[in-house]
Amino acid sequence: MNWNQPSKADQQQYPPRQIFEAGLRHHHIANTAYPINHNWTMKPYRVRRQDFETVTAAAWADIQEMGLYVHIPFCQTRCNFCEYTVINPADNARSEDGYFDLLLQEMAQYQNLLDTRKTLTGFDIGGGTPALAKTENIARIIEAARAAFEFEPGMQISIETTPLIAAHEPEKIAAFRGMGIERISMGVQVTQLSLAKKLGRQYKGFEGLREAVYNIRAAGFQKFNIDLMYGFAGQSVADWRDSVEKGIELEADYITLYRMRYKGTGLQAQANRVSKEVVAEMAATANQLLHQAGYVAPPGKNTYSRLPGDVGTSDYLTNRVVKGTPYLGLGLGAQSLSHNTLAYNRGAGPKSITPYEKEVRANRLPIQDLYNMALPVSMAKFISVSFYFGEINRTYFERKFGSTLESQFPAEVEFVLAEGLMKYRGDCLSLTSHGAKVYNGVIALFYAPAVKLHLLQRPVDLSERMPAQLQRELRRSFEIKLAA
Ligand SMILES: C[S@@+](CC[C@H](N)C(=O)[O-])C[C@H]1O[C@@H](n2cnc3c(N)ncnc32)[C@H](O)[C@@H]1O
Ligand code: SF4
Repeated sequence: MNWNQPSKADQQQYPPRQIFEAGLRHHHIANTAYPINHNWTMKPYRVRRQDFETVTAAAWADIQEMGLYVHIPFCQTRCNFCEYTVINPADNARSEDGYFDLLLQEMAQYQNLLDTRKTLTGFDIGGGTPALAKTENIARIIEAARAAFEFEPGMQISIETTPLIAAHEPEKIAAFRGMGIERISMGVQVTQLSLAKKLGRQYKGFEGLREAVYNIRAAGFQKFNIDLMYGFAGQSVADWRDSVEKGIELEADYITLYRMRYKGTGLQAQANRVSKEVVAEMAATANQLLHQAGYVAPPGKNTYSRLPGDVGTSDYLTNRVVKGTPYLGLGLGAQSLSHNTLAYNRGAGPKSITPYEKEVRANRLPIQDLYNMALPVSMAKFISVSFYFGEINRTYFERKFGSTLESQFPAEVEFVLAEGLMKYRGDCLSLTSHGAKVYNGVIALFYAPAVKLHLLQRPVDLSERMPAQLQRELRRSFEIKLAA
């Protein structure tokens, strides 16, 4: 593997307890979205613009199996809370066909660059709201992917919709199924009309959700997920309980819970209005209700499934999480990961198609930032993403990095086992229920040293302190003093 030389900052070691505490202090950023503070922690690995093509080609040369993500940045309206790359809805109609042309061109660029025909083990069409696009455009993308890649037999394509589209355009939902899309995910978020309105979310009440579900099932979807969100200002625990109960009534196969992440969203100023004790109570309430209703998830995992033996996430995401499978992200702001490179496409910051379009039209990869990672960075990326499922698969770690998890992180593994934060379960090192409550501390243990140093040095914003209940629990278990 063509690993970069680790920077000086990435050659240090830190005592696990210090890092665990630092991860807890900075629980708002110590999560699966990795790396943190790119400008400093990833700076030594930046690739020069003129080398983007050659470094990318070399990075993908030996990869045979990969995932594909295609980003569709269109939505009917922009919800206040959304953290994704979505362009101004007023530009949708003008931009759509041209944007899909660009996506096809970007796919063709990679097809030329990657040379060999790779096998796709997962394929997500995400957004934004991809279901808003014309069916012909979604069909164009799938056809182009079939022509450019080998589809692994049984590999499932997944798409996202809003309830409004699913309720009002049954023929579109049926067309998606007809194109071979097998999994569909629908954002419900909240079920209170007044709260939905405050969030800038189009919501027409529970009957509308029922209609949406009816159409999804009538189209033949048997892998159906709904998203619910908690941690909003003005959302009570009773509201949340009601949303979860209504979500359960919809009888989706999977339910994914998202805790509101405020950073960079239209609601950022409201973050301080949300008591973190309430957020912790909401998570516990949902966990109890979902388990009672037959939805299962191990500690630390946010996607609950009621289908036995089915983890509930798309093949694309499951392979990323369990095996660390490389993926190519096409479109505005999309992220791509090979074994040793990490790339971010243009357009995420300005939420505009123009900078992305400019590069594609000039037949250059529309990459904003490309990093040639060192081994500790790639391992940290693999493990951070693993925590989507609350566990690290030791077999796939060893397969990918050629050495065991225990040999790469001896002190950290000893610490999590001794403190009862994780335990061995089959092939995996998994969070315990106690570890899941303090997962921000656990995940930080596996970060690359430069990111650990950043967490150690970063001042604590008073508004970001952890819930008092968690602090008490930690003091009891670990006798540590958290920053007051
Ligand atoms: C790309 S959206 C797709 C679904 C579709 N556009 C919709 O809203 O119905 C994926 C999910 O991310 C979640 N999400 C959006 N913004 C978020 C934020 N700021 N923090 C946490 N989750 C968020 C929502 O639950 C949403 O359904
Ligand atoms: S939550 Fe969904 S519908 Fe709302 S702006 Fe984000 S991607 Fe669009």
